[in-house]
Amino acid sequence: MPLISILPHLKRAQQNRYALPLFDMADMYSVDGLLAALEEKRAPAMLAVYAGALERPNARAFVAYIRTRAETANVPVSLMLDHGSSFEQCIKAIALGFTDVMYDGSRLPLEENIANTRAVVRAAHAVGLAVEAELGHVGSGSEYQEFGAQRKGFTNPDDVERFVAETGVDILAVAIGTAHGLYAGEPHLDLELLREIRSRVDIPLALHGGSGCSDQQFRDAIVAGISKVNVATDLFVTTAQRLTAAARAEDNLHYFAFGKIAVESFQERCGHYLDVFGATGNG
Ligand code: 13P
Repeated sequence: MPLISILPHLKRAQQNRYALPLFDMADMYSVDGLLAALEEKRAPAMLAVYAGALERPNARAFVAYIRTRAETANVPVSLMLDHGSSFEQCIKAIALGFTDVMYDGSRLPLEENIANTRAVVRAAHAVGLAVEAELGHVGSGSEYQEFGAQRKGFTNPDDVERFVAETGVDILAVAIGTAHGLYAGEPHLDLELLREIRSRVDIPLALHGGSGCSDQQFRDAIVAGISKVNVATDLFVTTAQRLTAAARAEDNLHYFAFGKIAVESFQERCGHYLDVFGATGNG
């Protein structure tokens, strides 16, 4: 089926207390493995391209590949720009055929984040895309002890209603104790803060930095109000470990064998998250 905006599926997830994943993709193997997992598990999801990848020379061709592959999948798939860094980049993604965008103004002062998000929402809504924005700032796992673990960047619940009302944003990414990349130490999620945010607005809430959280942390966060979970690092780290192990175990492994291992690894890891988030069977 053609690519779709994920919003109606996210709303259904919100109503029924499960979450849909966003997986960042890097190449054909990751896309093929993810789509195999979605079809196996009969689940909707967001396939994402990270903002930086949109500036590479192969971006247009990579997006065309994703679009073509997703069109033959028989589950609902959205192509989402992850962490769009500017209005211009979000427009570029729309022109390339993305079906949802995230604009990330989370490092900016609140007023600027609101103004920029509002502009992206206006443009994206005109052509039927949903927009995600981030309030508070989800930091990096390598700085977790100095940042997230100290509650730095956490979403201020008092800003939430105003941010959503003034921007018209469809999905809100919240900072409640997760971080992007590998964590220095263990992640601690503030579910009390999450419930407080959940009580202030009724749009779907997104949790970034999924890699490194336990299955129980995901389940608790979903019960407390998360409907979208972003995962990237674990897919790439686990697949790289499996490729390295295969290369060590057997000399002269054929190039094709590496591709097969990579596809199967993405399928297995994505399938695991679909089960944990309760997305399985909802496509
Ligand atoms: P991880 O790489 O930590 O899983 O985070 C993914 C993410 O939040 C992308 O937006």
